[in-house]
Amino acid sequence: CFILLTVLNKISLIADLQGLEQAGVLSLCVGSEDRTPKKRFSELQNERREQAQRTVLIHCPNKINEKKFLKFLSQHGPINTHFFYESFGLYAVVEFCQKESVTSLQNITRTPSLGPEAAIPFKSRYFNLKLRNSVNQTSELSSIQCSNQSSPSSKKLYQLLCCAESVDDQLNTLLREFQLTEENTRLRYLTCSLIEDVAAAYFPDCAVRPFGSSVNSFGKLGCDLDMFLDLDEIGKFTAQKTSGNFLMEFQVKNVPSERVATQKILSVIGECLDQFGPGCVGVQRILNARCPLVRFSHQASGFQCDLTANNRIALKSSELLYMYGALDSRVRALVFSVRCWARAHSLTSSIPGAWITNFSLTMMVIFFLQRRSPPILPTLDYLKTLADAEDKCIIEGHNCTFVRDLNRIKPSGNTETLELLLKEFFEYFGNFAFNKNSINIRQGREQNKPESSPLHIQNPFETSLNISKNVSQSQLQKFVDLARESAWILHQEGKDRPSPSSNQPWGLAALLLPSVTNNVPLSKKKKKPASERIKNLLDSIKSSGAENSIATNGR
Ligand code: GTP
Ligand code: MG
Repeated sequence: CFILLTVLNKISLIADLQGLEQAGVLSLCVGSEDRTPKKRFSELQNERREQAQRTVLIHCPNKINEKKFLKFLSQHGPINTHFFYESFGLYAVVEFCQKESVTSLQNITRTPSLGPEAAIPFKSRYFNLKLRNSVNQTSELSSIQCSNQSSPSSKKLYQLLCCAESVDDQLNTLLREFQLTEENTRLRYLTCSLIEDVAAAYFPDCAVRPFGSSVNSFGKLGCDLDMFLDLDEIGKFTAQKTSGNFLMEFQVKNVPSERVATQKILSVIGECLDQFGPGCVGVQRILNARCPLVRFSHQASGFQCDLTANNRIALKSSELLYMYGALDSRVRALVFSVRCWARAHSLTSSIPGAWITNFSLTMMVIFFLQRRSPPILPTLDYLKTLADAEDKCIIEGHNCTFVRDLNRIKPSGNTETLELLLKEFFEYFGNFAFNKNSINIRQGREQNKPESSPLHIQNPFETSLNISKNVSQSQLQKFVDLARESAWILHQEGKDRPSPSSNQPWGLAALLLPSVTNNVPLSKKKKKPASERIKNLLDSIKSSGAENSIATNGR
């Protein structure tokens, strides 16, 4: 009853991804406990990648009989797991037990004939399912359960937070509601794997790996998908196996620098995604940025993707953040709340500019937790001392070594509550000497600022760089003002908390919802004068024009 068609490139409907995130069109509902992962990062990455290679993405008709659908696909081999989701149509993600099943399915799939239009016959793992006989099918419909892929609406979040038992409970609720679900994570790895198929047409044995918040355990539903084209493994295995007098090298083309090589590679892959990549729309090649990238929307998954190449240090940063997130269950809860708080007050934005980035905020939380007594998180230098020979990692001359086995790091003896930590976080940064000090998670202590940027957060691996160089004085001031105000609100609340039944916003709810905090009678709450708001806007525009790579480039 089914016909599978390869999905054509250039489907014209362009998903408004930000809109999707806000409007909650993509939605998921799994994820309950704090599922802090304990596996080694590289182990998890390899498992997920292999899983994605056995997986297909199928655009389904809205009316479909799930049982028959699975039976049809099982002709190609056993299915390990599957789920459906909605994103401008119904989609199924189906993971087979064996890779061969995918090939078998591809072999019975035909390229559609479109009348006056012509199809580019690109054979991918993204299919379009058509019903041969829709009348028979619809008569036996079973209802399809769709996983939800978006974060809760402000209203729902408000209700959940107001019903919580304590501020600690509120922070954990927020984490549970916003963290990436199993399904969303699978979809992220699958999307990378589909892009890898395109890149592999040029560079067999390449890998497209996710990095950033998709893998560092701090990703919020709806966050972008950062991926990098890894060409480092190409030719490595064969080279190790050679013996005898001869040494074989690939005949290659040389270019003046690593940067030029990256630009050339990304230029071609970008062109290919634009011309042939099923579901890839709005492809922009931003090759003159400090870290060249290709930005596009992957329509079916709804992800805004940033593809870079030669970006190993960013992957290492993701691994480090993943380690920190897994070391203590309070870390992720605090980071999520601070990220949501910053977003609610427009301190962060999805547009690059003079704003603080989520990456910088995460570094600030880590630094703050290193400063507690006793510390909740160890310094990066300490993690380096625990490393063994296998952990050694030098990338482009930078020492990126740290212990990768989580079990070798002793848990902290600190038992402070999340409520206290959140309040102290705001107090700490509300009073931090940003004018003279730099934040440094390598040493876990303030250092004199080596340059005059308003906010200085040392890049943990490329230590001469500042990851928040883009942040303007006015944006930093806004952060400080809001931090002080939030500390004050939490402090006041501690004294006189409304009862949960009163339906009054309290604790985190009072901090997060701008409409709610606007009701708080604080003199500071007055709107900034128009001149200052215009200045902020100009700062942001100037900064985004000068360096549009900063927020997303991984450097
Ligand atoms: P989201 O806002 O949820 O996307 O967080 P993110 O951590 O994914 O941030 P983003 O997409 O801006 O960047 C992706 C990754 O690139 C980060 O996790 C970092 O590893 C790295 N990165 C981003 N900005 C910088 C920077 O300024 N310096 C360095 N060294 N790395 C950066
Ligand atoms: Mg990101």
